[in-house]
Amino acid sequence: MYQTTRTSAVSFDHVFKAFVSRSRRGEPVLALEDVAFEARAGEFVSLVGPSGCGKSTCLNLIAGLDTPSDGTVSHHGTPVHGVNTKVGYITQDDNLLPWRSLRRNVELSLELRGVPRGERCERTSEFIDLVGLNGFENHYPHELSGGMRKRASIVRTLVYDNDVVLMDEPFGPLDAQTRVILQAELLKLWHRSRPTVLFVTHDLVEAIALSDRILVFTANPGRIKREYTVDIPRPRDPFRIHDAPGFAELHEALWADIRAEIGS
Ligand SMILES: Nc1ncnc2c1ncn2[C@@H]1O[C@H](COP(=O)(O)OP(=O)(O)OP(=O)(O)O)[C@@H](O)[C@H]1O
Ligand SMILES: [Mg+2]
Repeated sequence: MYQTTRTSAVSFDHVFKAFVSRSRRGEPVLALEDVAFEARAGEFVSLVGPSGCGKSTCLNLIAGLDTPSDGTVSHHGTPVHGVNTKVGYITQDDNLLPWRSLRRNVELSLELRGVPRGERCERTSEFIDLVGLNGFENHYPHELSGGMRKRASIVRTLVYDNDVVLMDEPFGPLDAQTRVILQAELLKLWHRSRPTVLFVTHDLVEAIALSDRILVFTANPGRIKREYTVDIPRPRDPFRIHDAPGFAELHEALWADIRAEIGS
């Protein structure tokens, strides 16, 4: 059993989540079954598992957008009740506001938290610069490529120093090369302030390149099947992660776990 420790940024203590679905005539569907884990301060943890195993549900519980049916989800030892505005959440959809320029989209999280104008401008410029989007500040989302929109949505969340950041398949729809470029940028940004990251992905290479630990979920209902520590030293280069010692064995073990869950 996981005890919430002082350094635990997020913890799940025997969490169950059932949804009542209208299509099942009110019969509850168990999405999460007895999920227990913790993510320590500054740790990068990936959640992997078959579609429908409850990964997004886990992130929604931390963000307080949903409540457990049983058990407790805590943020720094305090149970999450109601919307948890202290965590940053990057959803699969980039959610940029179409009527705001890139700069004003990035500024949004600082604006909502009442950061003074001068500091807001300075931080926004710094982060836009970090991901090479300078020159595009005044473009609107529809004038940006998919990769640029993803960069904008990531810096919009990271520009405000949340100590916990949730990322739900943030690079999902991108081509393979852009994904790796963004993984490298994400690691660079993460090293600056080392937030705790809970990262959902279907891409096992991506999970290895980024994570300290990988939690593999079972198919419906979602339970933690296995937990892997990624011992590859940091800083890591996602472009060369295949060559890292231990990569091939870890990738094979993760695939074997997932294959067993999807029954192939
Ligand atoms: N609001 C809801 N109402 C009813 N059922 C839901 C709801 N949200 C999720 N579920 C169910 O809970 C289970 C887990 O869903 P969840 O979205 O967390 O899966 P996931 O692991 O993120 O899948 P994917 O990889 O496809 O994004 C699924 O069976 C889904 O149908
Ligand atoms: Mg999901």
